[in-house]
Amino acid sequence: FIVSSKNLLEDARKGGYAVPAFNIHNLETVQVVVEAANELNSPVILAATPGTVGYAGEDYLINIMKAAAKNSNVPIAYHLDHHEDVEAIERSIKLGAKAVMIDASALPYEENIAKVKSVVDFAKKYDVSVEAELGKLVGVEDDLVVDESESQLTDPELANDFVERTGIDSLAVAIGTAHGLYKSEPNIDFERLEKIEKKVDVPLVLHGASDVPDETVKRCIELGICKVNIATELKIAFSDQLKKYLKENPEANDPRKYMKDAKASMKELVKKKILLCNSNDKA
Ligand code: 13P
Ligand code: ZN
Ligand code: NA
Repeated sequence: FIVSSKNLLEDARKGGYAVPAFNIHNLETVQVVVEAANELNSPVILAATPGTVGYAGEDYLINIMKAAAKNSNVPIAYHLDHHEDVEAIERSIKLGAKAVMIDASALPYEENIAKVKSVVDFAKKYDVSVEAELGKLVGVEDDLVVDESESQLTDPELANDFVERTGIDSLAVAIGTAHGLYKSEPNIDFERLEKIEKKVDVPLVLHGASDVPDETVKRCIELGICKVNIATELKIAFSDQLKKYLKENPEANDPRKYMKDAKASMKELVKKKILLCNSNDKA
C-alpha cells in the first residue's frame, strides 16, 4: 500500500540519510523508480507535479501508484509535488494520495501560513503528510517559474514559527539550490541550513537537487536534509537515450522496444541517486 512520507522522513532523520523523491510522469518512469528502489531495498517517494497530474490524469496516476506499491517490497510514497490548488490536493487525497506539498511560497508570510495550515487541517484527517516551503527557489519546475530577482532564501529566524503555526510534517528550504540545471556551480548556504536545522523539529527537504555536485548533496544530508528532490536529471537520462536509440534505429516504432534503453539509462541514474542519499538497505 501507499504510505505517507512522515515515517520515512523521521526514520531518515534518525538514521542520518535521506529519502530520494523522484519526479515521475507516466507508467514507464514509475516502473523504473520502483524497480531501482526494490533492487536496492530503498524506501522511495514518487513525486507528481500539477503538470504531471494534468498530463497523466489523477485517477490513472493514483492507480499506477497503487499497483506499484502492491508489486513492491519497499515502502512507496506517492507525493503531490509543488501543488498550489487546495481543491486538487483534496481530490487526490480522497483518491488515496498520502503525501503532499502545498506550495504557497509565492504568498506573503501570513498568507503562506494560513493556506498551508488549511491543507494540514484537511490532510490530518486522512493521515496524509504535508510539506511546505519557506523562501523561494529560483528556476523552472513545470509551470512554476521563479526569476532570480524573486528568489528568497529561507529565514532561519522564521522557520520554527512557520513550522509550529502550520503544523507541517516537513519543511522545504531555500538555501541556494535551483530547479533545473545550473549556469555555474550552485552556491549553497550550509550555515543557513545548519541554523534552520537547529531551530526546527521536523525533517528538512532539499529541492532542485539535479545538477548539484554529489559532495554538496552529501554535506546537505549531513546537515539535516532528509528528502532530496530530483527531476531534471532523470528526464535528461531518459530522453538522451531515447533520442540516441531512435537516431540509430530510425525504423523503430514499437514503444515497448524503443523505450527499453531509455528506461535502463534512467534506472541507472535512479540507483546512483539512491546510493548518494544512502537510503539503500533502509526499507
Ligand atoms: P530538479 O529538477 O533541479 O531536480 O528539482 C526537482 C525538484 O525540486 C522537484 O520538486
Ligand atoms: Zn521542487
Ligand atoms: Na537543480
